[in-house]
Amino acid sequence: MSPTTTPKFRNPRAKHNFQGRTCSVAAVGSYVPSRILTNADLEKMVDTSDEWITTRTGIKERRIAAESEFTSDLGAEAARRAMARAGVTPDQIDLIIVATITPDMPFPSTACLIQQKIGARRSAAFDIEAACSGFIYALEIGQQFIMSRTYDTVLVIGAEKLSSITDWKDRNTCVLFGDGAGAAVLRSRPNSHGLLTAVMGADGEKADLLFMPGGGSRCPASLESVNSRLHFLRMEGKETFKNAVQAMHTAATEALKRCELDISRIKLIIPHQANRRIIDAVGERLGARPDQLFVNLEKYGNTSAASVAIALDEAVQSGRIERGDLILMVVFGAGLTWGAAVIEW
Ligand code: ACO
Repeated sequence: MSPTTTPKFRNPRAKHNFQGRTCSVAAVGSYVPSRILTNADLEKMVDTSDEWITTRTGIKERRIAAESEFTSDLGAEAARRAMARAGVTPDQIDLIIVATITPDMPFPSTACLIQQKIGARRSAAFDIEAACSGFIYALEIGQQFIMSRTYDTVLVIGAEKLSSITDWKDRNTCVLFGDGAGAAVLRSRPNSHGLLTAVMGADGEKADLLFMPGGGSRCPASLESVNSRLHFLRMEGKETFKNAVQAMHTAATEALKRCELDISRIKLIIPHQANRRIIDAVGERLGARPDQLFVNLEKYGNTSAASVAIALDEAVQSGRIERGDLILMVVFGAGLTWGAAVIEW
């Protein structure tokens, strides 16, 4: 940019003087299992209807992983696709961060299991957990390692096998979720601002709106806990809905403000894909045009930490985002947690 050109936006990170270092998404990839579970299939499992699910959520179908397919398998495949597009080999990966609430097992981390599967033998690896907000949290963490010059190439993955913690007898929740994974390769790219800002927030006071009671130190697995169905997620739908709209609007507004951007300047908004009505309400509050909102939840339902990662990949591969576009990602999840990020693509 020549010195006389008026900047298109403010880069909030510039004040930290990173000496030209930026953090860009070099490429993205995603993977969803092949098995499709439709609303018609669910009608045979619980007392529900395609009409109820479609009007209340916008979801028509979701993907379900095979019994022998785990969160690490989904994440590894998404990672391979992102790495191939970025032209990055496994030995170039410095760090793997996996956001998930459905790790293959409590430990070791799913990131370590993915490291082995993709052959990234040099990399450090760890998981983070911020439920459906996990991918934005992981992007921001990865960004910090790039900007500080600790690492050059960071692989960020959101991966979930939510079908493994879904109570298939609870119609309130089982219609909402699906399995899948998305991945992003982060690197510094010349002549790009990349990840301009990321807002992250949490409110542990509302932890009981959405949680899984069993399986942790508070309630280890026992015959009783299994019989009481404590190893499935539970959700207060209505309260979660209200909090989601409020928190996503606030986070997105803060992210735009930091970059001195009006919503009209955003090419595409990639919101967490939980419920069409939440997305529309957030879009309306932000003053966004309907064509600025990316929606693919009709195909996948809510895939938690994988949700915006899969959506971002589909938006890029379908040509709805091109290099130089400004995009806004906005998320919400259990914790409660929320976040928003502005990226110059
Ligand atoms: N089929 C038919 N009826 C149903 C179903 C179903 N699958 N599920 C619930 N109902 C019934 C309820 O029992 C209730 O019946 P009643 O009035 O006789 O008691 C009625 O439908 C209305 O239920 P509500 O809970 O009022 O429905 P609402 O319009 O709030 O929609 C929903 C429910 C879709 C769950 C919504 O509240 C929602 O999307 N909440 C937010 C979910 C979310 O965003 N989660 C994000 C984070 S996820 C994460 O972090 C993992």
